[in-house]
Amino acid sequence: MADKKRILSGMRPTGPLHLGNLLGALANWVNMQDEYDCYFFIADWHALTSDYDNTAPIENNRKEIMLDWLSAGLTPEKSTLFVQSMVKEHAELFLLLTMITPVPWLERNPTYKEQIGALSNKDLSTFGFLGYPVLQAADIIIYRPYGVPVGVDQAPHVEITREIARRFNHFYGEVFPEPATILTETPKILGADRRKMSKSYGNAIFLSDSPDDIRAKVSGFITDPQRARRSDPGNPDVCNVFDFHQLYTDPDSVKEIDAQCRSAGIGCVECKQKMAEGLVNALAPIREKRAYYEARPEMVDEIMVEGSNRARKAACETMEVVREAIKI
Ligand code: TRP
Ligand code: SF4
Repeated sequence: MADKKRILSGMRPTGPLHLGNLLGALANWVNMQDEYDCYFFIADWHALTSDYDNTAPIENNRKEIMLDWLSAGLTPEKSTLFVQSMVKEHAELFLLLTMITPVPWLERNPTYKEQIGALSNKDLSTFGFLGYPVLQAADIIIYRPYGVPVGVDQAPHVEITREIARRFNHFYGEVFPEPATILTETPKILGADRRKMSKSYGNAIFLSDSPDDIRAKVSGFITDPQRARRSDPGNPDVCNVFDFHQLYTDPDSVKEIDAQCRSAGIGCVECKQKMAEGLVNALAPIREKRAYYEARPEMVDEIMVEGSNRARKAACETMEVVREAIKI
């Protein structure tokens, strides 16, 4: 693995992963496993920054997300899969980074301002929530990775990470390379109601959904809103079901559906059924792997522990250098 460039990324364990997460991040991670020395972790401490008053679901969510990862094709044979809270060195580096991070950098962070507004039902006026990006910076630079694959929403955090790394190097000498942002394209697909797919909107298809769950959800999808009757021609260009077809149905059938939709030769009910079958088939390998790991929960626990042991080794090496540099 020494010849491969290292990358690192993480997810907060906030619930089951859906197709948006798969296409927007996870599938990309799976593909990077051969080319890079990959570190992927569950950011359970980060889950506390907004859900400190309700910690009960975190443990189970952690298992669920690892199960989702393994089902989607991440594997401990290729990647280091670990849990943030199992590598305490992240907390030590976080503490040291808080000493050099100017508060205005955090107050200016667009995600911070946005979240405070969006989650106004929660008291987020905490030190931990403001310091979210400092913990994230520690997560990242403790592994001295070449880059961080993330969606655009996380780009400001990686930018702050580079600034913090630069500031550290300025005070204590060149310890941390500045990690690159490896931007993942966000998927074209939307949820059942044509809004962004999200667990909290109730419009998501989860990786853990059964074939019948998928069929039922797809039958409720909104199609071309202008197409009121079966006899009206439709427009696949504005139809979310068609976007799914383009991903999960064979190209010849997609062409056919395109033409039939425009000439009212196919009804939306039938069209959705076809799409659901394509999707059910495409997710079959994920369901198979899930069944395998669900039958072996102790194996999933072991993967988390062993991955975390591996990650800790790398983190400890960095911390030796850090303590030396700071002289403490
Ligand atoms: N903030 C990320 C998210 O909400 C999770 C995260 C925490 C992360 N630490 C990280 C992502 C380090 C990449 C690198 O999705
Ligand atoms: Fe969408 Fe298919 Fe209906 Fe056309 S026929 S509007 S592509 S669901």
